[in-house]
Amino acid sequence: MAKHTMLRAKELKDDEFYTCYNEVEKELNQYAKYFKGKVIYCNCDDHYGIGKGTPKSNFIKYFADNFEAFGIKKVIATHYEKSKKSTMYILDKDNTGDGIICSEDIEEIPLRENGDFRSAECVELLQQADIVITNPPFSLFREYIAQLIEYNKKFIIIGNKNAIAYKEVFPLIKNNKVWLGYNSPCHFIYNNKLTKKVNGLTRWFTNLLTTRRNEKLETGKTYYNYENMYPKYDNFDAINVNKTSDIPMDYDGIIGVPITFLDKYNPNQFEIIGMGTGDTAKELGISKNYRGRTDLSITVDGISSCPYNRLLIRKKKDN
Ligand SMILES: C[S@@+](CC[C@H](N)C(=O)[O-])C[C@H]1O[C@@H](n2cnc3c(N)ncnc32)[C@H](O)[C@@H]1O
Repeated sequence: MAKHTMLRAKELKDDEFYTCYNEVEKELNQYAKYFKGKVIYCNCDDHYGIGKGTPKSNFIKYFADNFEAFGIKKVIATHYEKSKKSTMYILDKDNTGDGIICSEDIEEIPLRENGDFRSAECVELLQQADIVITNPPFSLFREYIAQLIEYNKKFIIIGNKNAIAYKEVFPLIKNNKVWLGYNSPCHFIYNNKLTKKVNGLTRWFTNLLTTRRNEKLETGKTYYNYENMYPKYDNFDAINVNKTSDIPMDYDGIIGVPITFLDKYNPNQFEIIGMGTGDTAKELGISKNYRGRTDLSITVDGISSCPYNRLLIRKKKDN
């Protein structure tokens, strides 16, 4: 099978991974203070779940369970139907009259269209929302995040780690419009069975401030006197670091680090210059390496190699 056909098949399979309650809870509990008085929209979420492989949304369940505790104003949810009209779910008041607002109070209202997040009526709902929270279809991640940015929405969403390097997503990360959340969700429901994805492959993406963004990285490592630990790239003026914990704190030039650095990234301490692969590498002027490609390469003891997916960063002045 051609590589792009395999990738497409993988993306479509990933579209059908449903998020476990404990993964939703572990991440979203950290943002509880942001939910007070807000309209939350889950726009890829079905309250009932129909048929094989489409379980109930644990995002809706989580917000219904915590509606009162968090002081949420309203929860709106919509889900996608391939070829029929869909439904919207609303939770905003005690419809049963039992004195509490919970999942029994969710109202079901027919939609005019199929619940595609891009449809006119879903965009109308998006405009009413303060925060959008869901695990969207991976195959449409680029369009999905672009829409959130276009409508200037706050969000907490799940995506594949590789999305960081997408040409549509990386500039958002570089310009501090999107960053990583706290966890790497790995438990999902696929075909009605609990499935574990490789830890680190899936990430939360957000533009709500996380406490991590304010923490200062201190590795205790230095460049000067340890220069041989930090080889320079063959085709770009920067040093290579294999682990975030080895970043030398006294180096003022550009440093190539693994993407996992983003978990420690404090925008007041470092700036992101670009990526060492793909289009941004070309834009930075990374020249062709020994393989004839514009990926960063290093040569140590006569042996050349290309470190995987490097992020290029620089310490900000006065740090
Ligand atoms: C990765 S699943 C996650 C579902 C749910 N948000 C959860 O976390 O359990 C993505 C969902 O988006 C739905 N979907 C696919 N295309 C869509 C579209 N254009 N608009 C809205 N939802 C879509 C898929 O059918 C699938 O149910």
